[in-house]
Order: sequence, then structure tokens, then C-alpha cells
Amino acid sequence: MRTVAIIGTGNISGFHLDGYIAFPERCKIIALCDIVPEKCKAKKQKYGLDGAAVYASHTEMLNSLAGKLDLVSICMPPFCHAEIAVDCLNAGVNVLVEKPMATSLAECDVMIDAAKRNGKTLAVVAQNRFRTPIMNLKKTLDAGLIGRVLHAQIDSHWWRGHSYYDLWWRGTWEKEGGGCTLNHAVHHIDMLGWVLGLPEAVCAMLANTAHDNAEVEDLSVAVLRYAASPLTAKGALAQITSSVVHHGEEQQIIFQGETARISAPWKVTANTASPDAFPADDSVAASHIAELNTFYDALPRLNYTAHTGEIDNVLASLEGTDTLLVDGAAGRRTIELITAIYKAGASAVTVALPLSKSDPFYTAAGIVAAAPRFYQKTTSVKDFGG
Ligand SMILES: NC(=O)c1ccc[n+]([C@@H]2O[C@H](COP(=O)([O-])OP(=O)(O)OC[C@H]3O[C@@H](n4cnc5c(N)ncnc54)[C@H](O)[C@@H]3O)[C@@H](O)[C@H]2O)c1
Repeated sequence: MRTVAIIGTGNISGFHLDGYIAFPERCKIIALCDIVPEKCKAKKQKYGLDGAAVYASHTEMLNSLAGKLDLVSICMPPFCHAEIAVDCLNAGVNVLVEKPMATSLAECDVMIDAAKRNGKTLAVVAQNRFRTPIMNLKKTLDAGLIGRVLHAQIDSHWWRGHSYYDLWWRGTWEKEGGGCTLNHAVHHIDMLGWVLGLPEAVCAMLANTAHDNAEVEDLSVAVLRYAASPLTAKGALAQITSSVVHHGEEQQIIFQGETARISAPWKVTANTASPDAFPADDSVAASHIAELNTFYDALPRLNYTAHTGEIDNVLASLEGTDTLLVDGAAGRRTIELITAIYKAGASAVTVALPLSKSDPFYTAAGIVAAAPRFYQKTTSVKDFGG
């Protein structure tokens, strides 16, 4: 039985609470912590966590529960993830940290180092991997059924109203760490990195088109180029649109392979060439489409999805029955790609990967110094009141 605490009991914490509560025979929530302890008390009541202690500071919690706490979920704003994760790991507590893992690669490295030094688990939230269409899209690609990828299209389309960036920690490079590329497209960028690994080069443009109350971007478009690999053809390209200005939030991730096109939401098409090289209307393509549909339809559905699915995996890795799917290295890879997009957009250059530790964009201070400030954040509200 693992003992669990949540640090930061705002919006996202409810998904973590639901996740842990789904496994009562494997874990128990023993503490809630928030600098606004009333939020802990409200969650404690809502979820019927009678035995859970409430703390207003994570250090007080770690001291008081020394030796009694196995795992914390870190659900605070991005700028505090690294410091609090390192404190927890140094106190001998395993960590599941919300996305984005941190606001810079330097912070990611400090977190990974603390996990290694203390022999503890560092897991990063990427709950959308734990959805059947995404998990099974990855399995279909891994099976090599569409050949190497030639092009990937990532439509990370979200929509947020103007006041979204009025929340105290949102809308600044210092506290949020970036805009929609870091905090929304992070999900899709994680999936892309999981499937294809890191590209060799990135170019990008950043813009703020509809949120004149935020320093950060509300729209970015990036183009990535891949080296030849068993998964990608030489020079394969990916395009990522990261947005909080897309009405309808139609999101998709499409892979064009050598022999077919597949996507989430699931759709498959394929072409073969007629003698003049134009698409043929023949049975070969139709049977390849049928083969892909049959393979995909036979894949298992996940028992637990999203945060609950990831929490199941984290608990299983602590119990020694499964491998951790999203570890510190995976979280870092996502931050590396996002940092490259920011560097490319801010500097109007094509950025080669990997980024070195001497790169000005390696640290949070370097990003804050170099990133474009589209507007000034003038409004700061503590809470939207639910
Ligand atoms: N996985 C997802 O889909 C998803 C969705 C939304 C938010 N998030 C992430 O979750 C994190 C929190 O976002 P949110 O929407 O819940 O924000 P929120 O503002 O609703 O909640 C954050 C909470 O952290 C508390 N807090 C701040 N500093 C603290 C500290 N030093 N110690 C203890 N508590 C502290 C705040 O009082 C607040 O209650 C962010 O990293 C965000 O990007 C993830």
C-alpha cells in the first residue's frame, strides 16, 4: 500500500485524486498541501478524505511525514515544479509531476539528477498517451505497417478566452514558462517525441493574436526535420500548430507513411501508383487499408485511461510489475523540443538539436531574457472561483 500526497490542490488535482481513489487496495491519500489550505480542505471534504492531513507548506509536510510518504503528485504552476520535485526526491519521496515537467532544460536536469541520486522515481504527466486511440496509433506505427514516416501533422488546436491569462501564474515567461506551445501543445509534442524521437532541426514562428493580456504566445507554427532512421525517411518533416485561438478545438495527429496515412482520431487511407504515377484506383490500396483497419481493431482497449491510466502505470512501476512509461527523460525530451521551437521563433533561426548546456535557452533565466514579450500582463486574479 503506497501512501500519497498531493501538492497544489487547484484545478488539475481532482484528476489525480480520482486516479488514486480508483486503486484503494494499492494506495492511500494521506496528505494534501497548498499555500491556500482552504483549497485542501475543500478537496478533503469533496473526496471524503477523512484521514488526510492538510499542510500549507510542502517542507512542513515533508518534515512531518518523514519516512511515511511514498509518492507525491505535484500539481502546482510550472515555475515551482523543479524546486518542489527536488525537495521531495531529496526527502526520499517518489514524484509524479504535472506537465510541463519544468520551465527549462536546466531544471529538468536538476530533477533527473535528484531522482538518480536518491534512487527514486520521477514520473511526468502525459496522460494523453493513456488513451486507446493514441496508444494503438503508436502500436500500429511501431508494427511498421505504413513504412517509414514522411510527414507528421500535429494540430494542437485549443481555444481559450481572453481572461484565461488573467490567472496570477499564467501569461508570463517567468511563471507559466511559455504560452500554448509549452502548456497546451505539450501533450501532442510529447506524443510526437514518443513516436518519432527528436528531430535534427526546427524552425518556427510565434505570435500572440488574441490575448493582449499575456506576454506569451497564443499561436505558434513549427516545422521539424528528421534524420533518416528506421522510423523516419531522410528529411521527413513534421508541422506542429500550437494554438489557443482555434474555434472548435479540432485536434488531430496525422502520420503519412511510405505506404499509408494513419491518424488519431483513427482514419486510414492509402494510395498506390497507376502507370502514369497518379493515384491508382485499385484493390492493392484497398486491401492495405483493410489490413491496417484489421490490425488496429484487434488491439486491446485500455482498462484505465488518462490520469487514472498514468497513475496505474506509476503505481505498477513502484510495485515492480510494469515499466514506467513517462519518466524524467521523456519529460525532458518534450521540453527540449519546445525549447527549440521557442529559440527558433524568438531568434528567427533554424535550430539544430540536441541543445547544449551552454545554449542561452538552456536555463529559465536565458529563456526569460530572450523570449518575445507580446504584451504586458496587467491583470492578475488569484482564482476564477471554480
Ligand atoms: N495534464 C493536464 O491536462 C493539465 C491540465 C491543466 C493544468 N495542468 C498543469 O497542472 C499544474 C497546475 O495547474 P492548475 O490548472 O491546477 O492550476 P491552479 O492554479 O488551479 O492550481 C495550482 C495550485 O497550486 C497551489 N500552489 C502554488 N504554489 C504552491 C506551493 N509553493 N506549494 C503548494 N501549493 C502551491 C495554488 O494555490 C493552487 O491551488 C500546471 O503545471 C498546469 O500546467 C495540467
